[in-house]
Amino acid sequence: MRHDGDSRISYGTPEAGGHRALRAMARRSFAETFGHLYDPGPFGAFLDGAYGPGGAMARDLADPAVRWLVAFRDAVPVGYAKLTPLRAPAPAPAPGALELQQIYVLGEWHGRGVAARLMHWALATAAADGAPEIYLTVFDHNERAKRFYRRHGFAEAGRCTFTLGDRTDDDRIWRRGIEGPAAGG
Ligand SMILES: CC(C)(COP(=O)(O)OP(=O)(O)OC[C@H]1O[C@@H](n2cnc3c(N)ncnc32)[C@H](O)[C@@H]1OP(=O)(O)O)[C@@H](O)C(=O)NCCC(=O)NCCS
Repeated sequence: MRHDGDSRISYGTPEAGGHRALRAMARRSFAETFGHLYDPGPFGAFLDGAYGPGGAMARDLADPAVRWLVAFRDAVPVGYAKLTPLRAPAPAPAPGALELQQIYVLGEWHGRGVAARLMHWALATAAADGAPEIYLTVFDHNERAKRFYRRHGFAEAGRCTFTLGDRTDDDRIWRRGIEGPAAGG
């Protein structure tokens, strides 16, 4: 467990007994970010499938190919980043490309360096792996996330869609080259 930046936040991997709390935090962050876009019925069903017991996040937590960094406040998760082999339909990816598949921080911790710390971990981990590039997907209207990604060197590289219930939205695929160990900070 490492402490830096905001001294009240510590960073570490998901604790074996803490998966339920991490899934609950992820669910809350997704709901507070995107809940206004969807009908409650399909949205609740999606949240159950993504963050419920036996759902997609639980499967990823059991997958050794998926790596995580969690931000904790008093042992309670307030944010996390998840690094996977490339899953998005990127055009012509380089072999060994990785994906920052999720970076989620609870609203009260936005703009306070937590997300930047998680991003630096993802970039440093990709560099340590020798990954040539890293991708992510972002909802095209998520202006805060896009600004954050641009500041960290990402740029649009393609398109994909995200379907929830009967609504399909445009997502964008963003990419950043990994030139070597990422700058700290
Ligand atoms: C996306 C996220 C990880 C970014 O972390 P953060 O701590 O909020 O990011 P920062 O505050 O460092 O940077 C956000 C930037 O957007 C700007 N911003 C804030 N609100 C904005 C808005 N409504 N529209 C456009 N830009 C906005 C900030 O000024 C800042 O830009 P600047 O550094 O150039 O001034 C975090 O907001 C988050 O977890 N959001 C909810 C989940 C989510 O959307 N995850 C990404 C899914 S792809």
